[in-house]
Amino acid sequence: MPHSGDLDLETFRAEGRRLVDWIARYLEGVEQLPVLARVRPGEVRAALPPSPPARAEALETILADVDRVIVPGLTHWNHPGFFAYFANSSPTPAILGEMLTATFNVNAMLWKTSPAATELEITVLDWLRQMTGLPEGLFGVIQDSASAATLVGLAAAREAVPGLDVRRRGLVGQARLRMYASDQAHSSVEKAGIVLGIGQEGLRKVPVDSEFRMEPRALAVAIAEDRAAGWTPFAVTATVGTTSTTSIDPVSAIADVCARERLWLHVDAAYTGSAAVVPELRGLLQGCERADSLVMNPHKWLFVPVDLSAFYTRRPEVVKAAFSLMPEYLRTAEEAVAPNLMDYGVSLGRRFRALKLWMVIRSFGHEGLAARIREHVRLAQVFRGWVEEDPAFEMMAPTPLSVVCFRWRGDGLSGPDADRANEKILDSVNLSGDAYLSHTKLSGRIVLRLAIGNIRTEERHIKKAWEQIKNAVGQVNR
Ligand SMILES: Cc1ncc(COP(=O)(O)O)c(C=O)c1O
Repeated sequence: MPHSGDLDLETFRAEGRRLVDWIARYLEGVEQLPVLARVRPGEVRAALPPSPPARAEALETILADVDRVIVPGLTHWNHPGFFAYFANSSPTPAILGEMLTATFNVNAMLWKTSPAATELEITVLDWLRQMTGLPEGLFGVIQDSASAATLVGLAAAREAVPGLDVRRRGLVGQARLRMYASDQAHSSVEKAGIVLGIGQEGLRKVPVDSEFRMEPRALAVAIAEDRAAGWTPFAVTATVGTTSTTSIDPVSAIADVCARERLWLHVDAAYTGSAAVVPELRGLLQGCERADSLVMNPHKWLFVPVDLSAFYTRRPEVVKAAFSLMPEYLRTAEEAVAPNLMDYGVSLGRRFRALKLWMVIRSFGHEGLAARIREHVRLAQVFRGWVEEDPAFEMMAPTPLSVVCFRWRGDGLSGPDADRANEKILDSVNLSGDAYLSHTKLSGRIVLRLAIGNIRTEERHIKKAWEQIKNAVGQVNR
């Protein structure tokens, strides 16, 4: 071992080769592992030493513990039977990209602290903008998560409220700000309200139609009522692909309301944004060209491992006005001519995330990515067809993309009994180890939710999940 305590590079070469072999074996065999971890709370902790080792340990010993302790405690998001939440994946080019990110270990806070990181980030986000048909002139920057991106968008919206000067004066004693999102919007919108001092009461949840899409007329009424009651409306978040059902808010009509009322329009396209790389699905982002800010998550459905969220804005100067703070030690000669990406978010230090997105886009090509998303949408329709053909089940929402919301009718059971039966079906399927689904609640009823998004998922995997679900009905119904 060299003086630094690091591995000598010959050992690193040998161990690195072994680890890449290990990764390949893991990916080959992940399907044989139970997708949902089978450990009980505290079990992993109990298998780990309570205090750190005093002396250096061999990498071999550490990696042995990955097999012994870590892997059994994982829920395998890379398993092709992972259908919970929004499934995601790490294809091999992205794994290599992450290795390079750790290798370079640059901090993309200032242009100067790594020009290639900043310029690659700007370039790949512009590629993604082109691939999804968003208009030219959008400024794109990577955030760690959609939650952070929504926080940034709504902070900019708050900054844009005339006469508020919230950055300098804070909110105390100022106007009562209010923002709007549908009652199906992701909790990150509410969380942004909490963080920004708007408060939970500062978010008004607008009702949706029978297909879970925001009602623009109800939005307009809510804004008028709030103005009359002394609130200051300032922002609307439209969701393009809600978490429960992937419903798509009517962004054009919402943009009309925002234009009339002079409100910031933020679009949460965290999941659906990726689908717009498929040329025939581009229409999903219709109206989004009018958004002041928008987020989409390549780490959900564009085969980029967590974390990487793409934030776009038409008004980068407002985002910068909200976030830029330049202590002397960060000043550089280039700040007038090259962007410092720390100016567009909360974090100063920023990982070189662009590298893995670049590797994925180049390794698959636009057409390759589109082909995989198109296949996922097809698989969701196949699964939906099976549900519709089976009289014991009912569909609970439209299936515009790759998420299917359905439930067992209950065979005479109703209300909470039918809900409990559906929960038992879910538990039983998830215990099988072959598939992992999650649930949601729609109109007060428990709904099973199958989300296709893993790059390794094939028709045989959804077939197996469907068989597991039907078997589980047999057990619950006994
Ligand atoms: C529509 C939507 N927006 C935002 C988020 C939050 O994403 P993140 O985990 O990147 O913060 C989610 C998470 O599933 C989501 O479904």
